[in-house]
Order: sequence, then structure tokens, then C-alpha cells
Amino acid sequence: MSRLKKYWQGKNIVITGASSGLGKSLCEALVPYGVHFALLSRRESKLQELADQFKDSDCKFWIRACDVSNQQQIQQCIYDFAGHVGKIDVVWINSGVSHDSSMDNWNWEKVETMIDTNLKGAIYTAKAALDVMGEQGCGAIVGIGSASSMRGLPRRSIYSVTKIGVEYFLEGMAVDFPQLQFTTIHPGYVDTPINNKSPNRLWLIHCDKAAQLMIKAVAKRKHVYIYPWQMRLFYKFVRHLPHFLYYKLAERMKNYSRPPKEQQN
Ligand SMILES: NC(=O)c1ccc[n+]([C@@H]2O[C@H](COP(=O)([O-])OP(=O)(O)OC[C@H]3O[C@@H](n4cnc5c(N)ncnc54)[C@H](OP(=O)(O)O)[C@@H]3O)[C@@H](O)[C@H]2O)c1
Repeated sequence: MSRLKKYWQGKNIVITGASSGLGKSLCEALVPYGVHFALLSRRESKLQELADQFKDSDCKFWIRACDVSNQQQIQQCIYDFAGHVGKIDVVWINSGVSHDSSMDNWNWEKVETMIDTNLKGAIYTAKAALDVMGEQGCGAIVGIGSASSMRGLPRRSIYSVTKIGVEYFLEGMAVDFPQLQFTTIHPGYVDTPINNKSPNRLWLIHCDKAAQLMIKAVAKRKHVYIYPWQMRLFYKFVRHLPHFLYYKLAERMKNYSRPPKEQQN
């Protein structure tokens, strides 16, 4: 039996942000393994469309509208799914939003939405998962960070903060819960609606390819996984630059990644 089949076959898996992009592709990539899915996001109709697409498969679909920035809502969804299936094997924390946060384009509502969704939402989701998995004594929590967490990025510093926060939170929890698996994934550019206004999407990859890379990394029980490989090398290189060199590089990155004025969000 392949490593992927051995790891994923018949698992009970929660995916947040399954209505679009990476979350949707993840679900599609896991369908061959006869998974029981809990698909969560705010747009329930999109989740239903995804489930309908695979109604003749061996998979089961449990669908709930859920805003991850609402602590009680995400906690209730995870507790309900655990009650429904008896045991949760994997909680995949994927919901996220990204906005420009440069000073000349500062918008408090967007800043707070990023923090509430990407960071607080990830912590709310992980905490509910830990309540369930701590009792079970097993399970895996996967958090989607971003390659933007490599340093504080110009125009994206709030997004960078929220994404490195996911890694650090899961890393801390890994010490407290050695019986559980914790994997943080930092994707580079993947072709999804979140970044389709960005110019110069370096080493862009397709969603389906991204999903395959991620399910393999989780099956290998990686602690942190950065993809694609070019971004992994770049991420590690930038992370280790001394500040004065990083600031020089970041100044160039700032101009390289600036969208046309009318597309700035
Ligand atoms: N694509 C990339 O290049 C890239 C790179 C690095 C990291 N990421 C990360 O990958 C994750 C998925 O993003 P994506 O690229 O697939 O973008 P996407 O297509 O825009 O999907 C974002 C997902 O997050 C969900 N979401 C947003 N706010 C939510 C909330 N308050 N509660 C529940 N769900 C919420 C959305 O569902 P609803 O609108 O239905 O709620 C949607 O399903 C994000 O965490 C993103 O930061 C993406």
C-alpha cells in the first residue's frame, strides 16, 4: 500500500475554507481515499456544489456554514463533527484572507479581518481540535501559513505576522501535545482567487499540484513544509539574511510586487 493510501484512507478530516482555491483542491485530491469530510466556510452553497460533484464517490460529506473568526461557531462545528463521526483524524486550518497593509493604503477593517481570520481563526480552530484530539490521544493539525511569513514583508507585514503566528502557535502546541502531529505549510504562489490581482507571481503553481504536494508532506509528518522548492530555498535564504541586507532586498521586492494603483486592495 502506498504511503499516501496508508495515511489518508478512510480518515475523518475537517477542512476550513473548502469553498475555493486550496481548500477545494485539497478536498478533490483526497477524494480517492474514501474520506469522511467536514467542509467548512461561510459560503455553504459552494461547499454543497463541491460535495455534489463527488456524490457517487466513496466519500461522505458533512457541510456547515462557518465563520472561523467566530470562536463559538468554529468550536461548535468541530465538536459536532466529532460527535457525528466519533473521532477526528485531521483538522486542516486553511481559511485565510490577504490584503495590502502599506501605510498609504491602510484600512483598519481589512487589517482586522486578516488578524481575525488568519490568526485568531487559526487559533480558535486549533484549540477546538486540541480539545477533541487531546481526549482521543491522537490526530493531526495542519496549519496553512504562507511563504510571506519568511520576514516582515513590505506592504504585507500584517499578513506576514498572521502567517508566522500560525507556525509559532502550532510549534508551541507540539511541545504540549507530543502524541499529536502538527504540520505547518507555507505555500508560495498558487493560482487561486486570493492573489489573482498580484503581478509577478513568482514560481506560480496550479492548485491541483499544490494539493498533491501538501497531502504528501502531511503523510510524511513534516513539521514545516515550504513549497515549491524554489520558494523553499528563497525562504530559507531570506530568513537568514542579516537585517541590513534584508532591508536592501525588501526595498526591491516592494517595487517588484506593487500592483497597479487601481488594483490595490
Ligand atoms: N494561493 C496562494 O498563493 C497562497 C499562498 C500562501 C498562503 N495561502 C493561504 O492558503 C489559504 C487558502 O487560500 P486560497 O489561496 O485558497 O484563497 P481563496 O481561494 O480565496 O480561499 C480562501 C478560503 O478561505 C475561506 N475564508 C475566508 N474567510 C473566512 C472566514 N472568516 N471563515 C471561514 N472561511 C473563510 C473562504 O471561504 P468563504 O469565503 O466561503 O468563507 C475560502 O474558501 C489561505 O490561508 C491563504 O492565506 C495561499
